Amino acid sequence: MRLAFTPRNLSRTSGAFVGLSGVIRVRGITQFRFQWRKYSTKEPPSPPTIQLEGRHYLIDEWTNLSSHISSALPRKLHLQPSHPLSITRRLIESRFPGPTYQYHNDLSPIVSVHQNFDSLGFPINHPGRSRTDTYYINKDTVLRTHTSAHQADTFRSGTSDGFLISADVYRRDAIDRSHYPIFHQMEGARMWSRDACKARGGVPAVIREEIESMPKHGINGASEEPLRVRWVEAYFPFTSPSWELEVYWQGNWLELLGCGVVQQSLPKNADIPDKIGWAFGVGLERIAMLLFGIPDIRLFWSLDKRFLEQFKEGEISRFVPFSKFPSCYKDVAFWLPSSSSAAGGQVSFHENDMMEIVRNVAGDLAEDVDEFTHPNTGRKSLCFRINYRSLERTLKNDEANSLQKAVKRVLVEEFGVEVRG
Ligand code: PHE
Repeated sequence: MRLAFTPRNLSRTSGAFVGLSGVIRVRGITQFRFQWRKYSTKEPPSPPTIQLEGRHYLIDEWTNLSSHISSALPRKLHLQPSHPLSITRRLIESRFPGPTYQYHNDLSPIVSVHQNFDSLGFPINHPGRSRTDTYYINKDTVLRTHTSAHQADTFRSGTSDGFLISADVYRRDAIDRSHYPIFHQMEGARMWSRDACKARGGVPAVIREEIESMPKHGINGASEEPLRVRWVEAYFPFTSPSWELEVYWQGNWLELLGCGVVQQSLPKNADIPDKIGWAFGVGLERIAMLLFGIPDIRLFWSLDKRFLEQFKEGEISRFVPFSKFPSCYKDVAFWLPSSSSAAGGQVSFHENDMMEIVRNVAGDLAEDVDEFTHPNTGRKSLCFRINYRSLERTLKNDEANSLQKAVKRVLVEEFGVEVRG
């Protein structure tokens, strides 16, 4: 791991107190400000911290959070009135009425590794735990990768038989029109006491009865195509059996939700061993893209009135594109350094590192990034095609060129690659 400290400001407020602030890069892809809080000449400086939601978190070799991500924490799109994600959330909530279902819509995205993974039975070597997939604040703390991170606590709180948790979730991922490193999920769960259901014919009979009585909707999405969906058997460490629901969208099958029967270890650990139930986690963007005909996931983050003013609370309307602005493709090919020449002997480069560099440099001007193969001899060579396009204006070629230059600079400076074209 490489840590680069760039002090920006050294201030002496009195003989005994010194404040130091600056920027920290962890393997290049991480850039955020740090503050060494005041210390007296007798005490050693406090270790660097990152401030999120008003709290300081120690940073360590696990930290891989970028400013592009941390600055989005306050947005909470699912709570913005008349935003398509909020409209979608309320629509689903209306099918799961209180008091059986309680809604939790403002749980902090900062959770422990225990909440996000351990409490759900994720094995220690599960790929989801890796730094290439998950944003770590430090070794013990992450930005939740799914709303299931709150299942165990909510079961334990025991305040209702069912719940819906809507929230922003964070995953290092590909860049394309259906993936964004932040998206919104809704977790639903419902528990029954086996004993209490005995007199009514058992749990399955009670569930069937309840499904019949749930409010129905007559909604058709704004999409022109007939909806194609399929159920696929799946695996999640915290449900069994498990399924995924997929939907056909722009030529691909997209995962819409995961669900299953809650593993008995969860109610057992929550001191409700007699209970049994189901849980689901649904991606709100993907439902909203279908309902409103929204063609690109970046649009949800737009502050452009031409986007926001198209939607009204409680209404589903078809999105009208402002215009199709031209895209600008740029390729970059590079050799990875051999382990001996790399700084700190570090050569590993994950596709998601490329995605993170592009996100940090180009923000929402990057529409998709594809890896393609280039003939090579021996040394590992990588090639990426980046498609730059603004959803709000025509992007000038000069601007795309300078973004591309900045991407190459980060690759060279922080990953020690040799750019070949
Ligand atoms: N948390 C799972 C995911 O994000 C979805 C899920 C939720 C699956 C609840 C089963 C039960 O992929």
